[in-house]
Amino acid sequence: MDDLRLKFLDLISKTESEEALEVLRVQALGKKGEVSLRMRQLGQMTPEERREQGPALNALKDEIHAALVAKKTALKNKALDERLRNEWLDVTLPSRWRPRGSLHPVSQATEEVTAIFSDMGFSVAHGPRIETDWYNFDALNIPEHHPARTEMDTFYIRRAEGAEEPPRVLRTHTSPVQIRAMETLGAPLRVICPGGVYRADYDQTHTPMFHQVEGLCLDTDTSMANLKWVLEEFARSFFEINNIDLRFRASHFPFTEPSAEVDIRCSWENGQLKLGEGDDWLEILGSGMVHPKVIQAGGIDPDKYQGFAFGLGIDRIAMLKYGIPDLRAFFDSDLRWLRHYGFSALDIPTLHRGLSH
Ligand code: DAH
Repeated sequence: MDDLRLKFLDLISKTESEEALEVLRVQALGKKGEVSLRMRQLGQMTPEERREQGPALNALKDEIHAALVAKKTALKNKALDERLRNEWLDVTLPSRWRPRGSLHPVSQATEEVTAIFSDMGFSVAHGPRIETDWYNFDALNIPEHHPARTEMDTFYIRRAEGAEEPPRVLRTHTSPVQIRAMETLGAPLRVICPGGVYRADYDQTHTPMFHQVEGLCLDTDTSMANLKWVLEEFARSFFEINNIDLRFRASHFPFTEPSAEVDIRCSWENGQLKLGEGDDWLEILGSGMVHPKVIQAGGIDPDKYQGFAFGLGIDRIAMLKYGIPDLRAFFDSDLRWLRHYGFSALDIPTLHRGLSH
């Protein structure tokens, strides 16, 4: 009986799962278990033997049973401990990680420009960055041998020898989207067209890829006065300065007649640029009344509709507003720069809440 006792207590102590424990229980105490078989043998014993063996066997049975129960509880506790260890959760952690990424100043400025013009009833249109030379030049009244084609330092797309398709360029400005917007939306029309443009140029204020936003407003009686008001309103809102002063300077663009370049009043003190004061002027955009040939190229009757257009450098106004000295850094992907000049992705610019914080 001692062998039996030692054997089962040993096996029970080494058991690692509840299933194996159940197998042991059946082996010891089940109907055909080893202890049960011993119990059955009691019937063949003499009364004296039975009196001695009976209680001993019962005690053995109780002891094994108790060992099984204790082991089962121990295994259950162990499993629970393990779950608690694995499913551990630090409830003191912040519920939401602070976003690590930030909005690039170009994205921020584009959002701000869009918010301002949306408020004035302009919708947003897009066009392809790889453009046919017809949309980029001809439709904008820049014919084949016009000097503007070379002045813009155009990137041309190589064509296969004898290719049928029209010559393509990386668009040098967002003005071709004017034509596309006229074609698809018709008149009257109020759109802005933000996006990337390309020119072979590289120094502190020029990069081969940069961003512009084009504006176009056509109606039966839209005039230069409307252009002036819209741009002044825009500049005041965008720079978040009330005393913004704009100067409209006569200029020339093939796609507008008359044309005006617009400068913003500023001062330079100890290398610090201040807008809205001083005696210096900084050019910020080109504009004018859309040339009738351009309106016609867009499929609209220039005898019925007229209007204004403008084109402005997004990177440029972002540099001015946020005091960023070198344009090239915009496209270096330097994380330290992005963290310094970047904007929270959750602060969406709106006119009522303020454009930037
Ligand atoms: N497309 C011109 C440029 O890239 C900018 C421009 C000037 C756009 C006058 C216009 C405009 O719409 O009317 O230099």
